[in-house]
Amino acid sequence: MNQVYQLLKLVFTEKKRLVLTFVFTIFVAFFTYTFVNLVQPIMDFYMFKLSPGGIPDKTRFVDVLLNIFGISMDQLVTYLPLILIVVILGKGLFTFLSSFFMNSIGLKVTRGMRNDLFSHLVYQSTDYFDQRSTGELLSRLTNDVDKIQEALSGSAKDMMQELFILFALLVGVFFIDWRLALAAFIITPIALVPLMIFSQKLKRIGMTNQIQMAEIYNLLHEAITGNKIVKAFTMEKFEFKKFLKSTRDYLKVGLKFAWISSMSSPFMEFMGGVVGAFILLVGSNRIANNQISAGDFGAFVMAVFMMYTPIKRLSRANNIIQRAVACHERVLEILNKTPTVKEHKKAYPIPPIKGKIRFDQVSFEYNESGPVLENIDFAIQPSQKAALVGFSGAGKTTIVNLISRFYDPTAGRVLVDGIDIREVTLDSLRSQIGLVTQELILFNDTVRNNIAYGLKNIPMKDIISAAKSAEAHQFIMKLSKGYDTFIGEKGGLLSSGQQQRIAIARALLKDPPILILDEATSALDSKSERLVQRALSNVMKDRTTFIIAHRLSTIRNADMILVLDRGKIIEKGTHDELCRKNGIYKKLYELQFPESREEDF
Ligand SMILES: Nc1ncnc2c1ncn2[C@@H]1O[C@H](COP(=O)(O)OP(=O)(O)OP(=O)(O)O)[C@@H](O)[C@H]1O
Ligand SMILES: [Mg+2]
Repeated sequence: MNQVYQLLKLVFTEKKRLVLTFVFTIFVAFFTYTFVNLVQPIMDFYMFKLSPGGIPDKTRFVDVLLNIFGISMDQLVTYLPLILIVVILGKGLFTFLSSFFMNSIGLKVTRGMRNDLFSHLVYQSTDYFDQRSTGELLSRLTNDVDKIQEALSGSAKDMMQELFILFALLVGVFFIDWRLALAAFIITPIALVPLMIFSQKLKRIGMTNQIQMAEIYNLLHEAITGNKIVKAFTMEKFEFKKFLKSTRDYLKVGLKFAWISSMSSPFMEFMGGVVGAFILLVGSNRIANNQISAGDFGAFVMAVFMMYTPIKRLSRANNIIQRAVACHERVLEILNKTPTVKEHKKAYPIPPIKGKIRFDQVSFEYNESGPVLENIDFAIQPSQKAALVGFSGAGKTTIVNLISRFYDPTAGRVLVDGIDIREVTLDSLRSQIGLVTQELILFNDTVRNNIAYGLKNIPMKDIISAAKSAEAHQFIMKLSKGYDTFIGEKGGLLSSGQQQRIAIARALLKDPPILILDEATSALDSKSERLVQRALSNVMKDRTTFIIAHRLSTIRNADMILVLDRGKIIEKGTHDELCRKNGIYKKLYELQFPESREEDF
């Protein structure tokens, strides 16, 4: 119940529209009420041609209305058809208004929700994305929000409007003949028990349903983005089979949902029929005893009949809302998740960075799977170059991830210019770090916008000069539209080496005091690498730079080489020092360059 409230509470943000809808709904209820009460004069005076004196004397709503508007009974009888049209028109007009406004509330609320979700997602820490699949997140932002919108626009309106109408009709039947009404309603609650059981079941199934939809999104996403590999390994059939299985699971649960939700409305209808038969029995008895007129009974039956639609809609709205509650819980899971890497309450912008970086006894582990870094301790001075080498999985990328504060160390501190980076704002820190990641990240945009990513109003000449430093200018000029060429999703229309050079240009354009190059030149051939290397050595001059490279030739000139093995620094020093030491570095080096030919660099 609380969860339903949480969901419906969302509409409270649109107070003005809600109040309007509320007022319109009251009008709808009023016109419905009047309509039902007109049945009595229509039947008694029009169909049975009775005179007002010839029917059982009791207070009727129509009499109250006549008094208020100062109309005589004769006038009413004359203008009844016209009044009927006005009443139905009024009901229609206000139904339209309330429905439109409630729809607009749903649309506005869900737009806000999508925006919230997006802004929460982009601010989540890196570990959040490590643990979740893209497809699943996409499905929450699209499919789940759609279901919520359906519930808020359609079903919340139904809930409000139909409840009012139902209430009006209930008042109506009690007003027309309370004894008959009481008799009828004594047996109605039996119908409500199954309704409650149904809605419980539907909610549970709704949750499973959404999880399976997310799985489908996930498979779709992987099959599309990984299409090349799927083809290369001729795994189309395998992927298709996986997909078939998940659509089959979705179908199974969907059918269960359909079974229960389809059953709920005929079931309610049947209960309605039982109640109807009972009313007929009691009502005919009361007419025979001259306690009510035939018109009264007609109005009563009409009112009971008219309750059918609201009840049906309410039960459908309940189904949709139950499903939306499940979706809302999944959405809330994102909205309530605070990033693990948080800014300190008193975080301040770090002053312009000089470039001293110190790891003070840093240990780290991803999601409690065992230590990935242990007691990493080193310092590099402003404008120095540090190189990280070691086997794959040794923890090189992890170390540089900690400098950008994508993760926080589990123990120890990372200091930049002597300041613990947890004390400063993320923006101020990250905006002063130029990063070329191992996994290249380019956007489906032009070359120019990819290089200038995150920077505003950058003059073209700066972009070109960054591209030149990254040895990218030449090939960019050969593209069909030069700097305005679109490079496709993830830069797919460029070669890996070209993508790398664009990524380097992007990092350089930022002109950051700290530069991190994680395998930044690994996709280049030796010649291009040498060119990029030379260009880089110029730009690295006044910045603290971290270079991670498997090719040791690229790091020979580093001021400090850290040799990493299984999360520990096992050797530390310059190339010459390490070569003299005759340790792991020397071995690695000799493996790569058996003859140690100097001219190879
Ligand atoms: N996001 C992550 N979640 C959990 N474990 C991770 C994650 N990223 C890396 N690891 C683990 O941490 C260890 C170090 O990984 P890291 O990426 O730092 O290695 P690396 O030295 O950069 O290797 P490579 O040379 O292959 O890039 C590995 O054992 C890896 O399995
Ligand atoms: Mg790595």
